[in-house]
Amino acid sequence: MKKYILSIDTSCDETAAAITLDTKVIASKVWSQASLHAKFGGVYPSLAKRKHEERIDFVINQTLKKAKLEIKDISAIAVTVGPGLAPALEVGIQKAKELSLAFKKPLFAVNHVEAHLLSPLIGKSFEEIKQHFPALGLVVSGGNTQLIFAKEPGKYKIIAETIDDALGEALDKGARALGLGYPGGPVLEKIAEEFKVNKNLKNPLPLPFVGQEKLRKFSYSGLKTALVRLIEKIKKEKGILKKEDIISLAYFYQERAFNHIERMVLFILKNQKEKPKSLLVGGGVIANNNLRKKLRKIAKSNNLKLIFPPHKKYCGDNAAMIGVALAINLKERSAKDVNPQKIDRIPRLKLTESKIY
Ligand code: KG4
Repeated sequence: MKKYILSIDTSCDETAAAITLDTKVIASKVWSQASLHAKFGGVYPSLAKRKHEERIDFVINQTLKKAKLEIKDISAIAVTVGPGLAPALEVGIQKAKELSLAFKKPLFAVNHVEAHLLSPLIGKSFEEIKQHFPALGLVVSGGNTQLIFAKEPGKYKIIAETIDDALGEALDKGARALGLGYPGGPVLEKIAEEFKVNKNLKNPLPLPFVGQEKLRKFSYSGLKTALVRLIEKIKKEKGILKKEDIISLAYFYQERAFNHIERMVLFILKNQKEKPKSLLVGGGVIANNNLRKKLRKIAKSNNLKLIFPPHKKYCGDNAAMIGVALAINLKERSAKDVNPQKIDRIPRLKLTESKIY
């Protein structure tokens, strides 16, 4: 019998469900609420909860329909328990619990960051997956910025993480300061492309923690404040922020934000005792072509296999990666199902908390 997994993720502002079979995606649906949160310039938690509640049944039903399956055909249910927004996580967990109890299906709790980390392995055979470890993982999303050493699936060490904003959050805030839309990452990327690179122009923004890579920390609040101050200065001098100012600031801000990642990855690769075989990258910001180009260069010069999620739709939040993360864990370690009566959200769940319950 084929062991299909139904997975659910409502950790932030995407209502997502998927059906997976081992690492293969049979159907995946993501309903994004981003446009509803745009006027707040970020995710509004109680609105996110309400919208998840309104949509969750529809998204799950559509996913099952697309897979031409019914709940009775499913072997297990996987749900994100954290990290994420508590009110949003609750909705997916409640639904997963209901389905698990009503249809007597084992329920598994999945870590959202682990799913982003393993998302580059979607669609790969278990034999191939084994060959990519030990791996260095980079997860850059709206809520997380982490460099991880993964000895094997399930065995992780966090090597560097942010002390304030996540990379995606920093891009969103920068875009907001420039009067651009939400989510800011894709808008900044598009506008920055209009910038005509001129080597004589100096980047007016600071590089976070320059020369301090040994601290193994990312920080974006100083960069964001510098951008806000520069915008204020330009407005004072010129009265307005002109289109060309927005284009150059978008470019310089994005460059600095990505240089920070680049420098840290290079530092870690130089100083890491156990050499990784691959660089696994995941999270919403990995959709960015400029960041991809920088990572390709690093991977090439370090003889590393660079693995992106197989499609850009698996960079941002989705449930396919939740089902695949569970499948890899079931194969590599004996992941245990949880008691549906006891399952609860863990908004600040750490990647290294391997035993969730
Ligand atoms: O993975 P994700 O959907 O949510 C979390 O798990 O947090 O990531 C969302 C983040 C947002 O901050 C968004 O601005 C950013 O990913 N993002 C991008 C791009 N597409 C999405 N950032 C830079 N370039 C992009 N093309």
